[in-house]
Amino acid sequence: MRKKIVAGNWKMNLDQTAGKKLITEIIGHAQNIPSDVTLVVSPPFPHLGYVKKLLIGNVFLGAQNCSDQPSGAFTGEVSAPILESFGVDYVILGHSERREYFQETDEQLATKVNQALASELRPIFCCGESLAQREAGNFVELVTTQITNGLFHLSPQQFSEVVLAYEPIWAIGTGVTASSAQAQEMHYALRQHIAKKYGDTMADNLTILYGGSCKPSNARELFACPDVDGGLIGGASLKAEDFIAIAKSY
Ligand code: 13P
Repeated sequence: MRKKIVAGNWKMNLDQTAGKKLITEIIGHAQNIPSDVTLVVSPPFPHLGYVKKLLIGNVFLGAQNCSDQPSGAFTGEVSAPILESFGVDYVILGHSERREYFQETDEQLATKVNQALASELRPIFCCGESLAQREAGNFVELVTTQITNGLFHLSPQQFSEVVLAYEPIWAIGTGVTASSAQAQEMHYALRQHIAKKYGDTMADNLTILYGGSCKPSNARELFACPDVDGGLIGGASLKAEDFIAIAKSY
């Protein structure tokens, strides 16, 4: 049975006061979302400790990145074991902003995935194409290659811990969302790709989230796609009302 997840990626937003207000509001409404939907909140690192203490049953904690090293002299980095010690459950890896602004490569991401899994963090592994790549026509191959390079070294047992997030770069923060047909096409292709490597059961059980300008007004249509199992939400996750409304769209 596939897990349905609505995950918020706060990115580099909200000071402590605003973060406490947001998580308090989210928790206040979390009982009203369908019981089979898991919420994940992924604040910037300094918020993790207090957010963890406020969480209840169906709300889990995510980080937005982890180091590819387990410990040591890497100033400014945060390792998977440190995140684990703060009770983090999920870690977003391979976000296009990390790939673009911090030059994260497929090879480095594969190492980060290993670090996350070794600390029992579930990777939310992101993939997606730019507008130019979509217009060039070979975007399915490009996105499935990101999955091959970042994840296909994993054992089946390890892979079963992974959540995928398809985030077309042209839809992130632009207000232009993928149509449900575009999302379904890619999610279906990803599932087929996984099935070839890990078999039909693994592919069927894999949670694949859609991300990119997902909001209350379009979530229902996107989540109705047979291969879309929830969302990775940026801007709309910063307003409790919108985040909860998205989670209620199932
Ligand atoms: P937006 O929802 O703001 O488009 O961001 C999506 C995203 O990048 C989530 O990781």
